[in-house]
Amino acid sequence: MEIPRGSLQQQTFFEQVGGEETFRRLVRVFYEGVADDPLLRPMYPEEDLGPAEERLALFLMQYWGGPRTYSDERGHPRLRMRHAPFTVDQAAHDAWLLHMRAAVDSLELAPELEQQLWNYMVYAARSMINAPG
Ligand code: HEM
Repeated sequence: MEIPRGSLQQQTFFEQVGGEETFRRLVRVFYEGVADDPLLRPMYPEEDLGPAEERLALFLMQYWGGPRTYSDERGHPRLRMRHAPFTVDQAAHDAWLLHMRAAVDSLELAPELEQQLWNYMVYAARSMINAPG
């Protein structure tokens, strides 16, 4: 069978999971969990979690091949540096991942896409730990 040149377009992960809408849903569910979390909620400096939700959504969309709005607005991510003011210990890591797990589950993605997203979250959360205990 002939495959016309140019017909096999490489889709980004961002596109494969459903684009902006999917990432908006992900962070919405995640921050619902954070809002009720006795360890995490006090770590967020702003009264309103909306702006933090927006930053995480923009970052994740950019990371997975979507629009580069995060860097246009915030510059280079430098996530470890940006987390330095906060005590990210094992407990904070575990709480963060717990809410992210619920958020990822809520998307009901195809298993291989879900696994890819989850593996990244596990790796990224581990790399953000900056305090013992
Ligand atoms: C491991 C536990 C983590 C904790 C306790 C944590 C906590 C926080 C807190 C308190 C903030 C400040 C809220 C704000 O002003 O935006 C923040 C910001 C942010 N976090 Fe995390 N975080 C964790 C892991 C991660 C991971 C794994 C990622 C990426 C996959 C991430 C991405 C971000 C982003 C993009 C911002 C906003 C940075 C900016 O532009 O200022 N965080 N995080």
